[in-house]
Amino acid sequence: MTTTALNKTKSKQFGPPDTSADFDRAYKTPFHWIWTDARIPRELKDLLENNKPESSLELGCGTGRFSAYAAAQRIHATAVDFSPVAIEKAKSRLAGKRQQPHFVVGDVTDLKNIHSQFDVSFDIGCFHCLDGAGEMKYVNELARLLKSGGTHLIWALDTSPSDIKLSAEYIAGVFSEKFELVKAAARRRRLAASHWYWLVRK
Ligand SMILES: C[S@@+](CC[C@H](N)C(=O)[O-])C[C@H]1O[C@@H](n2cnc3c(N)ncnc32)[C@H](O)[C@@H]1O
Repeated sequence: MTTTALNKTKSKQFGPPDTSADFDRAYKTPFHWIWTDARIPRELKDLLENNKPESSLELGCGTGRFSAYAAAQRIHATAVDFSPVAIEKAKSRLAGKRQQPHFVVGDVTDLKNIHSQFDVSFDIGCFHCLDGAGEMKYVNELARLLKSGGTHLIWALDTSPSDIKLSAEYIAGVFSEKFELVKAAARRRRLAASHWYWLVRK
């Protein structure tokens, strides 16, 4: 094996998860709890309070804490993640609850099984998992699923696990054909340099 190939194998073994199988493995360990928050972020609460949506779509929902919050506000919440293990954990954690999100195992770059349109959408930590090609597919799928005038809220690291530098300029550019970036706010969330982004569907 060449040195480059060996380095690639090493970084795949020890690097951040990026496939659904990687995330499945991570969700089988206790360590995935570092990804989520005990508290619902103020930015998400504001999104739901200010827009009063009847329906919401979450991309990369993990174990479903944020869409469970949306459902508890009596919003028709749909939550997507490509890790079947995460979705199973979400469903069993919420078993018996009256207000439940509709959980879907799916890839945010190909959501052909979802046909409804949503009033608002959000993504807390998924967009920064994608590569450049995946980002464009995500934008197209989201543009199909979010109603015109609807807001999409993203929280993303400033440097993605695959080393893409994310910034307001970068996000505005990637989404520019179908969305307008109306606000970006820098935050140190979970100690990491990161931003919240508010995008409105044109
Ligand atoms: C950092 S975790 C955040 C999970 C959740 N939003 C939270 O904050 O608790 C990122 C999530 O995005 C999901 N994800 C990454 N790439 C995805 C893709 N292409 N399609 C669907 N889900 C994806 C992962 O499985 C993982 O659950």
